[in-house]
Amino acid sequence: MTAPLKLALVGLGTVGQGVVELIQRNGEVIAARLGRSVRITGIAVRDLTRARDVNVADIPVTDDAMALARDGDYDVLVELIGGETTARAVTEIAFSRGKSVVNANKALIARHGNELLAQAESAGVGIGFEAAVAGGIPVLKALREGLVGNQVSALAGIINGTSNYILTQMGSKGQAFADALADAQRLGYAEADPTFDIEGIDAAHKLTILASLAFGIPLDFDALSIEGISAITPQDIRIARELGYAIKHLGIAKREADGGVSLRVHPTLVPTEHLLAKVDGVLNAVLMRGDGAGPVCMTGAGAGRLATASAVLADIIDLGRSGAGIAPPLGQPVVGLKAVTIHPAQDAASAFYLRLRVADAPGVLKGITSVFAELDISIEAIQQREPREGDDATVALITSETTGQRIADAVARIEVLPFVREQLARIRVEHFEA
Ligand code: HSE
Repeated sequence: MTAPLKLALVGLGTVGQGVVELIQRNGEVIAARLGRSVRITGIAVRDLTRARDVNVADIPVTDDAMALARDGDYDVLVELIGGETTARAVTEIAFSRGKSVVNANKALIARHGNELLAQAESAGVGIGFEAAVAGGIPVLKALREGLVGNQVSALAGIINGTSNYILTQMGSKGQAFADALADAQRLGYAEADPTFDIEGIDAAHKLTILASLAFGIPLDFDALSIEGISAITPQDIRIARELGYAIKHLGIAKREADGGVSLRVHPTLVPTEHLLAKVDGVLNAVLMRGDGAGPVCMTGAGAGRLATASAVLADIIDLGRSGAGIAPPLGQPVVGLKAVTIHPAQDAASAFYLRLRVADAPGVLKGITSVFAELDISIEAIQQREPREGDDATVALITSETTGQRIADAVARIEVLPFVREQLARIRVEHFEA
């Protein structure tokens, strides 16, 4: 019988416990598929006294993660503590011992992945991070293996479950933003710091990784344009629906004509009949367009204990089959990746939704529409709400395709008009080919 694949587990939080549970539950099928069993030989936790709801009585548990990485008897170190400090340190110790690493650590990979992957390559070991992006959806595998023969021209994804959950609850139940966020935290979807979810940072970490795999470019988190959902109101969701759209928080990566790419994370109006508009709650979805495969859309649980553990196990088993993993983590050696121009969001063209509160008086619509006429922006749809607060009215409109810069100019001109009561809400509108 082949020796078991030995794991050191650093972190026994939500995902760590999920990994233990899934190994205990599926040990036999995993062994049959891998050709050997998987055994956890040591666990490191921050707090030895904290109660866990998995049985780890027969596994040594320590509160010294560095010691486990340095001295533990393992083939693969499974880092599930998150963060960028101890997580990086234990990863580098494992590499220095010729051991592979699996994590769910999007921030670490998005921000330090180029160096870490190069270290893994030169050590001849592997690093897997399927669980870092879209929870239980095997989207990195899809890009790396299933679509390996394609050139990917674009991808768009709902890649933060917490934001999707909040927008869904606000739209369907009229729940306030804060209440929906509190529910998401209670259900275990949100990051330790929920601003990462609602301000788009978490999605940007994930889009950085997806774009790297899709386009064969180095990881470059700092180049992304990032906007979260904290400025979205239930009123925007309602008006968007009346105009035929759902508001989704998307990560969008597109190959541009000049060979550069645009990488942006922001709330987006998506036509209600589009697949992405129908992905609700904590579900994630990633739509990819390959030149051979055409549009491919994957959807599933983007967060949660067992869903994320499922992705961790996929990497562990790949590494168990071949010490450095069955394919390079970014689809090709990181050392050969060539940087391309990453275009700022203001250059990206799309339609826009604008919503503004104005005095309910004659000439107001003319004043607004003449700004668009001056800037050569056409209006596709316009809606005026009944006066709601005093003498004010709400006007919402959808423009034709234009650049972010030109819309910024229009907004700046409209906001100083005397009848405009407050800052305009501005959300991109995307029409996808599939
Ligand atoms: N906070 C993340 C989300 C968890 O809401 O999607 C999974 O990365």
